[in-house]
Amino acid sequence: MMPTLLKHALIVVSIGLLLLQCKSAKTPVTEAVNPDEPVVSYEKDLKPIMVRSCTPCHFPDKGRKEMLDTYAATKQHIKAIIARVELAPDDVKYMPFKSKREALTQEEIELFKTWLRQGMAE
Ligand code: HEC
Repeated sequence: MMPTLLKHALIVVSIGLLLLQCKSAKTPVTEAVNPDEPVVSYEKDLKPIMVRSCTPCHFPDKGRKEMLDTYAATKQHIKAIIARVELAPDDVKYMPFKSKREALTQEEIELFKTWLRQGMAE
């Protein structure tokens, strides 16, 4: 026969496992929104990337293309910006144009996407 103490321990563990199962069954399938996710800001996070990789073409003085030098302009064109930087570098629509400036890293592209998803903080 099993010692009583061991039996009790087994029962406690079993109940614990059952409770765990109930909990995980309730976990939604969709990706949970992380309340601790840092808010991406235009001024702090995106502007330095744009200045590095989109000048001079999209900035005043030299720029003759669509101006992308302000919060408002970036907000207005965010979908086109994401679409362009995500293209393959040999695509004619790829930005930075003809790879004349430093490419955006995957991490930086994610920042633009997160910014859009979060509602585009200034
Ligand atoms: C060397 C110059 C140059 C650089 C650097 C450059 N672009 Fe461009 N961009 C162009 C030119 C030229 C066009 C117009 C031709 C085209 O649409 O492909 C253009 C067009 C665009 C358009 C379309 C605008 C419209 O009115 O439809 C977007 C969006 C864009 N660029 C985003 C960017 C972003 C974001 C960066 C930086 C990551 C960047 N570009 C870097 C030259 C540049």
